[in-house]
Amino acid sequence: MTEDDVQRLAADAPLPDWVTRLDRTAFGSAWKAPAEHEALWLVPQVAFARWARIPAAGEAELLRIAVDPAHRGHGLGRILLEACQRDLEAEGLVHLYLEVRVSNAAAIRLYGACGWERCGLRPGYYQDGEDAALFQRSGAMRRSGA
Ligand SMILES: CC(C)(COP(=O)(O)OP(=O)(O)OC[C@H]1O[C@@H](n2cnc3c(N)ncnc32)[C@H](O)[C@@H]1OP(=O)(O)O)[C@@H](O)C(=O)NCCC(=O)NCCS
Repeated sequence: MTEDDVQRLAADAPLPDWVTRLDRTAFGSAWKAPAEHEALWLVPQVAFARWARIPAAGEAELLRIAVDPAHRGHGLGRILLEACQRDLEAEGLVHLYLEVRVSNAAAIRLYGACGWERCGLRPGYYQDGEDAALFQRSGAMRRSGA
């Protein structure tokens, strides 16, 4: 599996059923179809990453990333996240941020491996009272011809 296996869901494409199923498996609930400012990257049938894009601010927020449980621990999360980062940064969305449960060791390790830095804490952020760790990543602006 390489970054070439990562696809971006077309803006007008329906949300695939397997994304909804994996969403439920990974998070216990499925989000609705992407809003206009959102974008999804997929490894078909196996993994997805959902982002909110704020082009005017050069920012994007990672909302959810999930790998099918049978495929975890083989570097797929990292391939997917790095493909998203490459594409977003190429669009000028160079300020990336996310929140994650402080207990989510696998995700926190993944973000560290992909160049994210912990930059804050939101106490009691989740409905069950767990704190959220805040991470950010500032990528390099890529200019055409540079
Ligand atoms: C988080 C998640 C996406 C990682 O996907 P993955 O394909 O298993 O991750 P990778 O194999 O690419 O591993 C990336 C890094 O995380 C580490 N890692 C993976 N699983 C881990 C685990 N269970 N515990 C600790 N570290 C782990 C890897 O060692 C690797 O670090 P390294 O490069 O320093 O060795 C996956 O575990 C998942 O889908 N979890 C459920 C959904 C979720 O919690 N999403 C994040 C919040 S939105």
